[in-house]
Order: sequence, then structure tokens, then C-alpha cells
Amino acid sequence: MDVIVGIQWGDEGKGRIVDLYAKQYDMVARFGGGNNAGHSIHVGDRKIALHTIPSSVLVPRTRLFIGGGTVVNLAALVAEIDAMAEIGVDIRRIAISDRAQIVFPYHAALDAQGERARGASAIGTTGRGIGPAYADRTARLGVSVGDLLRRESLANKIRLALLAHADALAHGDASGLREEDVIAQTLALADRVAPHIVDGVSYIHEALERGDRILAEGAQGTMLDVGYGTYPYVTSSATLSGGACTGLGVGPRAIGRVIGVAKAYCTRVGGGPFPSELLDATGEVLRERGREFGVTTGRPRRCGWFDAVAARYAVRVNGLTALAITKLDILAGFERVGVVTAYRSQGATVGVEAIMEPGLAPETTWYDGWSDSIDDARSRNDLPRAAAAYLDALEQTLGVPIELVSVGPERSAFLN
Ligand code: GDP
Ligand code: IMO
Ligand code: MG
Repeated sequence: MDVIVGIQWGDEGKGRIVDLYAKQYDMVARFGGGNNAGHSIHVGDRKIALHTIPSSVLVPRTRLFIGGGTVVNLAALVAEIDAMAEIGVDIRRIAISDRAQIVFPYHAALDAQGERARGASAIGTTGRGIGPAYADRTARLGVSVGDLLRRESLANKIRLALLAHADALAHGDASGLREEDVIAQTLALADRVAPHIVDGVSYIHEALERGDRILAEGAQGTMLDVGYGTYPYVTSSATLSGGACTGLGVGPRAIGRVIGVAKAYCTRVGGGPFPSELLDATGEVLRERGREFGVTTGRPRRCGWFDAVAARYAVRVNGLTALAITKLDILAGFERVGVVTAYRSQGATVGVEAIMEPGLAPETTWYDGWSDSIDDARSRNDLPRAAAAYLDALEQTLGVPIELVSVGPERSAFLN
């Protein structure tokens, strides 16, 4: 099993890279996150944004597995399945682990309340209820996808969770969250989801035993990991490659290659530290050229230069064996291109361990820019010398080979 993870703050282009790699695999398995994710793929005239279903929908015959480490909003999933059926995807390819947890409407209400309570230090969540759903799982108040098949106990589990949250929900704008309605809605959706539910552990292990090639698809990015990201400005799941083991129920020896996806620059949505952020016109140019607006929420993404300090950290905590760099095309036209190679705090050079310190300043190393478009480049030899030198510099500072460079959103726009 190989793993693809984002190594920045999400939106690195994981969907686009998974679509490209997937033809080498029999199954693509999402191991974490929920519909806070938005993974886009462009194939010919088709543009698709996936939130819960793995990004190999347009690669025929790959099985699409939603693993036990995910949290699933049933209504959103059913809508996504219907949308896939409409564009001709064989939805029998979709399987959902019984271990995945359900995101209920009350989780979204709790998410909104939590954000309001934080005021100026709000996380800037996607508002999808992801944090409260993972919190319920840990608090043993969660309801799993497998519970949808046990109707007798399902209603009681929902009642228990609502009871535990009764105080919090009574204060917020939780209208429309009557217990009977939540239960009735869930039962109705259960009928739609049931044909896709599998025993997640048998499903993946039988595939491994058959010798099937499996690609584990991460969501979000390293710096949003609940344990190793810029806590508390993180999501609530394990986004690192190790999350593929816990999220799919496989041991670490099953893992082969670990491919980290990074943009040629950096973006972040929501609050929290972002040392390489450009709050000036250059950041604006990156946002406009890179069309840096969220796939899930439409929010403008914060933009900055490539952060090699955070990326070196990501190489370590994910055990990366290779890198895929996306959006190199967007850097064409800058006179010079920056890479943040260190941070400074109170006059001293500091490392990634200082990322949460207020007033952190970036130290930027400059590289020559290139003016010509590289949209039509298809090999590293086609690149202007400065663009090739930029990639060489990234490879050198990260100590991991770049095995793929993407120069456009469309499937064929990459260098190899
Ligand atoms: P993900 O969440 O990591 O899958 O990334 P998103 O889909 O949220 O955001 C990446 C965006 O960049 C999408 O709109 C992609 O179509 C687009 N994209 C991916 N690779 C490239 C590239 O090499 N060049 C350009 N211009 N766009 C790209
Ligand atoms: P993909 O898979 C970018 C961010 C939110 C917020 C924080 C917590 O498309 O890369 P949450 O709703 O998860 O509780 O929000 O995490 N975030 C993402 N940012 N890409 C994503 O997913 C994200 N998923 C969550 O903006 O800052
Ligand atoms: Mg995204």
C-alpha cells in the first residue's frame, strides 16, 4: 500500500495527483477527514470536486473505499454518490467502512457554537461539524456507519449523544434538531448508504491478501494534523501518513511508498500561523493567478512563498519517500521567487518548533524568476533554467526526490 498526503496546510492538489497515480492501483482508500475536504480533478472538460469519495472516480475500475478513519455526513455522501452516478461513474465501486463515524447535523451546530465562543481566536473551521464528530468518537458518543445496519440500537445511540449535548444545544441556534427528526432522517439515509457498507477490516485485508495494489489518499495536510500541526489551529484528525494505518486498520509494514504533495508555494484557509504568508500585492497575485479560493467553502486562501522549514518537518513526520510538486505554472512571471528557509524569533534563528510563537518572522532565500509560461512543458528539460534551478533547490533542501511536477490542473499537464 502506498500513501499520498498533503504536506502543507491542505489544498496542495492531492485530488489531482491521486487521479494521476490511480491507474497504477486497484483501490484508492480515503483514510481520514470528512467533507471538510475538497479535492478537485480536471479531466478534459470535466471538473469535479470530491469531498468524501476518493479522487479516482474517473479512473475506471479502481475501487473507491471510504475508510474507518473518516467521518461521514450521510446526506452529503448520498448527494455525492448521486452526482457521481449522474456523470456515469459506476457507484458499485464505492465501499464505506463500517468503522467510519457519522457526522450529524448537531455536530455542525456544535461546530458553529464553538467558533462563536472562540471569538477572535476562532479556528476558521469549514463549519461541517468535523471537530465535534471526532470529539464524539473519542468521547465514545459517536455513531458509526456500521450502526446504520443495526436499526434497533441506532436510535438509542443518537438519543444518548443528543442527551450528552443537550445543554450546549439548548443555548445555540439548534432549531430543527428535534430528536425524532434526526433519527428519522438518519434512517431514511441509511437505506441509501447500506448497499455500500462493508466490514472495513476484511475489505482491505482481503484486498491486500489478493495482492491488490492500494493507494491511501489523505485529506488536509501535515500542518493541519491534530497532533503534529499548528495546534489548536488544526483539523481534528490524523492527516499524516501514519493516519493511513489507523484510518484503514492496517499495520505499518503494509506501507510502501509515501508521496508528499506540495504546492510550489503555500496556501492556508482559516486562522493560525502561516510564517511565509504574503500580505502584500505578491500574495494577491498568487491568489488571483492560482485561483486560490476554497473548493469547499469558497473562502479566499491566504497565500505565501514555499515554506521549506515546515516542509522539512513534513518529510520527517510522514517518512516521505518522494514528492509531487503542483502549480509550478503559477510562479511564472515573478521577477524572483522566495523560499522560506528559516524562522526568526526575538532576534534568533529558530526552527519549526517555534511555529506557534507570536511575532515569528520568515527568513527568505531568493531564486531567479522566469517569465515564460511553462504550461506546455512536459519534461524537466523543457523548463526555463530558473524554474529547473528552483526545483533542484527544493529537492536539495528537503532531501527527497521530486518524482512528479504538475504545471496545470488538467490531467496531462505534468512533467516526468
Ligand atoms: P486538494 O484538496 O489537495 O485536492 O487540492 P484542491 O483541489 O482543494 O486545490 C487545488 C487546486 O489547484 C484545484 O483547483 C486544482 O485543480 C488546481 N491544481 C492542481 N494542480 C495544479 C497545477 O499544477 N497547476 C494549476 N494551475 N492548478 C492546479
Ligand atoms: P483538503 O483535503 C484546507 C482547515 C479549515 C480550518 C481547519 C479546521 O481539501 O486539503 P475543520 O472544518 O476541519 O474543523 O477546520 O482546517 N481545513 C482545510 N484547509 N484544505 C482542507 O482539506 C481542509 N480541511 C480543513 O480551513 O482552518
Ligand atoms: Mg482541497
